[in-house]
Amino acid sequence: MSSIALVYFSPTGNSKKAVSSIGELPCVTVKTFDITGNVEVPETDLSGFDFVVFGAPVYAGRIPACSVERFKKMKGSGTPCALVLTYGNRAYEDAPRGLGDIVAANGFRIKGVATMASQHTYGQIQLGRPNKDDIAELQEFFFHMLAKAEEPETVVPPGNYPYKVVEAKAKFKPTTNSNCLACGMCVRDCPVGAIEEDIKTVNDNCIGCMRCVKKCPMKAKSVVAQAFSDFEKLLSERLKNRKENEFFVC
Ligand SMILES: Cc1cc2nc3c(=O)[nH]c(=O)nc-3n(C[C@H](O)[C@H](O)[C@H](O)COP(=O)(O)O)c2cc1C
Ligand code: SF4
Ligand code: SF4
Repeated sequence: MSSIALVYFSPTGNSKKAVSSIGELPCVTVKTFDITGNVEVPETDLSGFDFVVFGAPVYAGRIPACSVERFKKMKGSGTPCALVLTYGNRAYEDAPRGLGDIVAANGFRIKGVATMASQHTYGQIQLGRPNKDDIAELQEFFFHMLAKAEEPETVVPPGNYPYKVVEAKAKFKPTTNSNCLACGMCVRDCPVGAIEEDIKTVNDNCIGCMRCVKKCPMKAKSVVAQAFSDFEKLLSERLKNRKENEFFVC
C-alpha cells in the first residue's frame, strides 16, 4: 500500500476528476489537498507521502496565475511526484514546465507528466473528457510511475523558456439572473474572491474560470453577451478535432 497525496487546483472539476481517479486505485491510501478555494493555503509538508500527484488546468498555455503561489506552499524532500495537466483540446504549451519548475524547486522529483485533453471550459469541445478511457490511460500511467518511484531518473516536463506571457484577467465575466436564491455559495467558492457580497457584482479579479456558472444550483450565473456566444461557436469549430492524451515517463 502506498500513501499518496493528491493536490489540485480545479475550478470546473476536470483536473480534480483526473487526479482523484488515481486515489480510486486499490493499492493506495490517499489524502487530498484541494487548493481551488479562495482561502490562504498554508505551507504543507508532503515529504511523508510515498508519492504526490499535482493537478491543474491550462489557461492560455500556462497554469492559472492565481494557482502559482498555492502550489509553492507544497514542500517535499526528494519526494516523487507526477504532474497532471488538463487542457481544453487546444494546447498545453508551457503549463507543464511551469508547474514542474515550481514543484522541483520545492523538493519534488518529477517521475511523470500527463497532459490530458479535456472538455474545454468554453463552447462544446470534447464533452465529458476526461472520460473513462482517459482515466484508464491515466491509471495505467500512474502504475508505471509508482513502480519506478524510487529510481533516480526524473522527467523534464514539456514547455519552453521564456514562458508564454499571458493576461490573467477574464475577457468575459458572468452576470446573475433572477433565479438566484442568494445562497452565497458562489461568493465563497470563487477561486479569486471576485464575487462581491451583493452576489451580482463580479470585480476585476475574475479570471473567467466559469466555476460559478458550472456550480450554481439555480443556473443563475452565465455570460450573456453576443460576443461570448460568437467566441464559443468559433472556438468549438476550431477545436473540433480530438487530441490524444500524452504521457511523459522516465
Ligand atoms: C481562462 C481559460 C483559459 C484556457 N486556456 C486554455 C488553453 O490555453 N489551452 C487549452 O487547451 N485549454 C484552455 N482552457 C480550457 C481548460 O484548460 C480545460 O477546460 C481544463 O480542463 C479545465 O480544468 P478544470 O476543470 O480542472 O478547471 C482554458 C480555460 C479557461 C477558463
Ligand atoms: S450560487 Fe447561484 S443561487 Fe447561490 S448565490 Fe450564487 S448565483 Fe445565487
Ligand atoms: S466570478 Fe469569475 S473567477 Fe469567480 S468563479 Fe466566476 S468566472 Fe471564476
